[in-house]
Amino acid sequence: MPYPPLLPWYEQNKRVLPFRGTHDPYAVWVSEIMLQQTRTETVAGYYTRFLRRFPDIAALAAAEEQEVLKYWEGLGYYSRARNLHRAAQIMASQYDGQFPHDHEAVRALPGIGDYTAAAICSIAFRQPYPAIDGNLTRVISRLHGVREDVDIPSVKREIARLAEENIDRQNPGDWNQALMDIGATICTPGTPDCGRCPLRELCDACEAGDADLLPVRAAAKPPLPVAVGVGLVVSEGHILVQQRDAALLRGLWVFILNEGDGTRTGMDKRLRALGLDAAFRGELGEARHVFTHRIWNMTLYHYEAPGLPPVRGCQWVDAAGLAALPLPTAMKKAREAGERLLREYEK
Ligand code: ADE
Repeated sequence: MPYPPLLPWYEQNKRVLPFRGTHDPYAVWVSEIMLQQTRTETVAGYYTRFLRRFPDIAALAAAEEQEVLKYWEGLGYYSRARNLHRAAQIMASQYDGQFPHDHEAVRALPGIGDYTAAAICSIAFRQPYPAIDGNLTRVISRLHGVREDVDIPSVKREIARLAEENIDRQNPGDWNQALMDIGATICTPGTPDCGRCPLRELCDACEAGDADLLPVRAAAKPPLPVAVGVGLVVSEGHILVQQRDAALLRGLWVFILNEGDGTRTGMDKRLRALGLDAAFRGELGEARHVFTHRIWNMTLYHYEAPGLPPVRGCQWVDAAGLAALPLPTAMKKAREAGERLLREYEK
């Protein structure tokens, strides 16, 4: 039974979002990738800017990866942007520049998992796949009174079965988005606002009074704190940057990092290991960035080197060059400090 009050409620109450109202699979895809792990309010501005610059598969496929990352700067989880770019290139070369309609083919593209394939196929092509993310898991576990750990595979399958059984086959895209909106605005984590919920009459947890305890999940591991030294090395109006090749933040640009050791002596050693002879000029404060599995506790150090010496795997950039590179949000405070150092040089 597809929850009779759901779609009428959605018609009256749906959130106005810039990516709503399109059935263009490319636009739906971009929005759904951005919306993974990211709040809708944050996505709105990025989405509009991204689509203006890369309006279709061809435009995205033809772009340089660095420019795509630049348009993603600040959104985090940058592998999403790299996968988006790669998938556009696959569609350009293997699908004649068209978005595939077949669920299996969509699911096989880089960066597209069950959730995203279902969201695209239901919203763009009206195919009846439930888009099961954290929101839908929460809403369905409460509606149907699923009181076991939703991270256990058999319980996950039960949630999927319930969703598949109840999805509206005429309008699966709106059905998915209606449940997402309920999950985001009414059936929120913690204590939900059952009084406003169109599904309260159907809801097992509302009747039992234990919605605030659902869904059941084993506690997640907290992120691991790591000390990180950040070297802001300047030389003749330029600052030293390096492109990451570690999995975390791969492809983005950072200052000289010493992960696991935030001390000044650690940074001295790191610079020597790069073959760089730089003089310490002072400490520039601390910064902190929380990733999903790590916390970087950063200490910023200012160094100066004479004559723009070449440094293995690194580049010297001036203020304009720095502004043009994609830097992760983790570097926000370091970047501001770096910009100040470069401005001082110009005086
Ligand atoms: N979260 C992820 N996709 C969404 C969508 N299409 N509408 C609302 N919230 C979402």
